[in-house]
Amino acid sequence: MAKVFDIVIFGASGFTGKYVVKEALKFLNPNSPLKSLALAGRDSCKLYETLKWASSTSKPNLPLLVADTSDPFSLRRMASQAKLVLNCVGPYRLHGDPVVAACVETGCDYLDICGEPEFMERMEAVYHEKAIETGSLVVSACGFDSIPAEFGLMFNTMQWASPAAPNRVEAYVSLESDKNIVGNFATYKSAVLGVANVDKLAMLRRSTRRRRARPLIPGNAPLPTGFDIEHQKKIGLWAVKLPSADPSIIRRTLSIFTENPSGLQGVNEDPKQATKRAVYWSKIKPAHFGVKIATKHYLGIFRMITIGRIIGQLSSSHFGQWLLLNFPYIFSLGAFRKSGPTEEEVASASFKMWFVGHGFSDAKDVSREPDREIITRVTGPEIGYVATPIILMQCALTVLKQRGDLPKGGVYPPGIVFGPTELQNRLQENGVTFDVISKGDISK
Ligand SMILES: NC(=O)c1ccc[n+]([C@@H]2O[C@H](COP(=O)([O-])OP(=O)(O)OC[C@H]3O[C@@H](n4cnc5c(N)ncnc54)[C@H](OP(=O)(O)O)[C@@H]3O)[C@@H](O)[C@H]2O)c1
Repeated sequence: MAKVFDIVIFGASGFTGKYVVKEALKFLNPNSPLKSLALAGRDSCKLYETLKWASSTSKPNLPLLVADTSDPFSLRRMASQAKLVLNCVGPYRLHGDPVVAACVETGCDYLDICGEPEFMERMEAVYHEKAIETGSLVVSACGFDSIPAEFGLMFNTMQWASPAAPNRVEAYVSLESDKNIVGNFATYKSAVLGVANVDKLAMLRRSTRRRRARPLIPGNAPLPTGFDIEHQKKIGLWAVKLPSADPSIIRRTLSIFTENPSGLQGVNEDPKQATKRAVYWSKIKPAHFGVKIATKHYLGIFRMITIGRIIGQLSSSHFGQWLLLNFPYIFSLGAFRKSGPTEEEVASASFKMWFVGHGFSDAKDVSREPDREIITRVTGPEIGYVATPIILMQCALTVLKQRGDLPKGGVYPPGIVFGPTELQNRLQENGVTFDVISKGDISK
């Protein structure tokens, strides 16, 4: 089948999918890399309702494709008509595998907004070789998970002019709104199932364990583990460790570029692009990385710890999972609702992600404690339904416009694929901004 659509948005009728459609329509025009778009899902009436909601015209007209994750033929039909599928059907651990399989089989590129490490690592283990063969580029986590973290870390480490180098960068995510901040049920369900199946991730890592290269990080001061509450005075926030997907994705990115310091040449990349990639990587200075959720008020941290404890405790039994999944609003202490946030709640929210980097003013002398601090920040609108669609669309436009600059195929984390592209500038132009806040000595 001919590739008739630049992009197909799969799961377009979902809570996030409909915001992705709205964002995509802004870029659908003959002068843009996005010239043809189709929506896909299991119910064409819902898709049409989505299109009406997202579009400014009263009789919008876009092709609607019916596809269901339980019907592999429908997925292959969808993927074989598309250059790029944006998969918004989650939880990915339940629905993602057959969609990736169809894209890899038909040589179609694939992006999603997954934040589930087990799914992402499994897809890499199962489909990477085949994706190289068929020329399908598969990139998960092209949303708030994990582009702000990956690009925020890279942005911070690039500020360390030699001989200075970072040892550790900690990210502090602060969600802000004058209304209640609420997430949709599918994100909560993904988190509950992730915690409930944490042993599967450990098993997967054991079964696929090949020694991944460890990046060379100056000094010997890895991040503290555990869930201690921290008062980060520099940015005026209370914080506690957030068990997010970001650190595991960043570890994959750092080890891939440690293994391939001269680009992905020899794997699946043309030599010119490999050289460009190697030049970009040479500017990045690997560091230990962790993420914390942060708020201005001490009590806010208690709420987050309590939510984490409730999910942690209850998800280990079937009855506990049943309670969590049937009464999300109660057990998430109001953080998630089955019906998702209202449009007003979405519009009122924003995020700030601070990157506090500690390192050495001279990386050749690491016998002392880190003596230098660089703080950078990524800011943007509401994380799930505004920032995520913006980020996903900018990744998609980068794929369409710069396809020749990207690996020919394979399953990669976003930093590997999009690091050396124009993505960060694109994000900056679309409301996700990167700033240097301060550079100086660490005060004793
Ligand atoms: N990275 C991030 O920061 C971020 C942000 C937002 C969301 N997400 C993730 O995105 C995913 C979707 O979230 P959401 O809130 O949009 O969920 P949602 O509202 O439940 O939407 C799910 C979509 O999947 C479709 N679907 C379900 N089962 C299907 C099947 N068997 N075949 C085909 N389509 C099927 C649904 O179709 P119907 O409309 O027909 O029911 C719907 O369109 C979740 O995994 C969430 O964690 C990530």
